[in-house]
Amino acid sequence: MSRAFVVREYGGPEQLKLENVEVGAPGPGQLKLRNKAIGLNFVDVYQRTGLYKTPLPFTAGNEGAGEVIAVGPDVTGFQVGDRVAYQGPVGAYADERLLPADKAVHLPEGISYEVAAAALLKGATAFYLLHWTHELKAGETILVHAAAGGTGQILVQWAKAIGARVIGTAGSDEKCEIVRQCGADLAINYKTGDFVAGVKEFTGGKGVDVVYDGVGQATFEPSLDCLRPRGLMVSFGNASGPVSMPRLGILADKGSLYVTRPTGAGYFRTAEDIRTAADALFNMIELGRIKVAIDQTRPLAEAVAAQQALEARATTGSTLLLP
Ligand SMILES: NC(=O)c1ccc[n+]([C@@H]2O[C@H](COP(=O)([O-])OP(=O)(O)OC[C@H]3O[C@@H](n4cnc5c(N)ncnc54)[C@H](OP(=O)(O)O)[C@@H]3O)[C@@H](O)[C@H]2O)c1
Repeated sequence: MSRAFVVREYGGPEQLKLENVEVGAPGPGQLKLRNKAIGLNFVDVYQRTGLYKTPLPFTAGNEGAGEVIAVGPDVTGFQVGDRVAYQGPVGAYADERLLPADKAVHLPEGISYEVAAAALLKGATAFYLLHWTHELKAGETILVHAAAGGTGQILVQWAKAIGARVIGTAGSDEKCEIVRQCGADLAINYKTGDFVAGVKEFTGGKGVDVVYDGVGQATFEPSLDCLRPRGLMVSFGNASGPVSMPRLGILADKGSLYVTRPTGAGYFRTAEDIRTAADALFNMIELGRIKVAIDQTRPLAEAVAAQQALEARATTGSTLLLP
């Protein structure tokens, strides 16, 4: 038996119910893992509330790292005892789980379970946003919202490593200090200040090349005013609520802009896609170019409080749940 946080109805954090579940043996193409560390992500909240429809019931959680304890038929490349990490599919908030082998990546020696669980989903996202959604180049200028968050801190550090100029927003002065420590050229407290004016001033009125926006509703429209003509708006999340697309002509009015709404599911379609992103991320971590901030660590049993803190904007960096 394994403890697991199961969601049987969409709703508030109280819908995360700790249950004892039978995990069983891995089927064809599957691994059985003993989780060593589990990463918390905002997508876990969207799935729990039903904003992102996930077939019920499901075990929450999309990111983790652990030890392979059984290998299903037809699986090649993995054996019992291997150290692996994964991002998606759901089922991470548990002591043990089954996982499609094509979602697992091997951990290099220098990457701990904790770092992998704190960084794989967020860092693979940063990789695809900076390399595949837009191939970021040295000298380009970007705006990253919620830059002190789990995904935000990795995005800022990676963009700086590429050689971009980075403006980060965050919801307090303390968070802005973290954004600067990640290397951002400018940090703007968007709770107390006007980030559009800050971006205009920093760029001499030109605007940025790309906005990376995981905040959504609260920042989407003003972010369009931060872009240069033909700049790219990457709306990749909805921490403040989902964006309803305003009339299409707004993109013409504001300078022939581009908008995209990418998801991991759209970019990580094969095992090779995931391995490419994971290899690049682990390499950046091992080189010391990206530091993974594990700012909150809780026992797995505290998953409800962990999600409440994330929703209340009371976290920075990554949160780990430990089985
Ligand atoms: N599309 C993809 O492939 C993909 C993959 C990974 C993550 N994401 C998205 O990226 C975003 C960040 O994810 P994360 O897991 O790394 O979370 P996070 O950034 O660690 O936490 C969310 C942050 O959003 C900010 N925020 C602004 N308004 C908020 C509000 N009304 N309620 C709650 N938070 C608010 C808060 O920072 P401040 O206090 O500084 O504002 C908060 O700390 C999420 O929208 C997530 O869904 C998308």
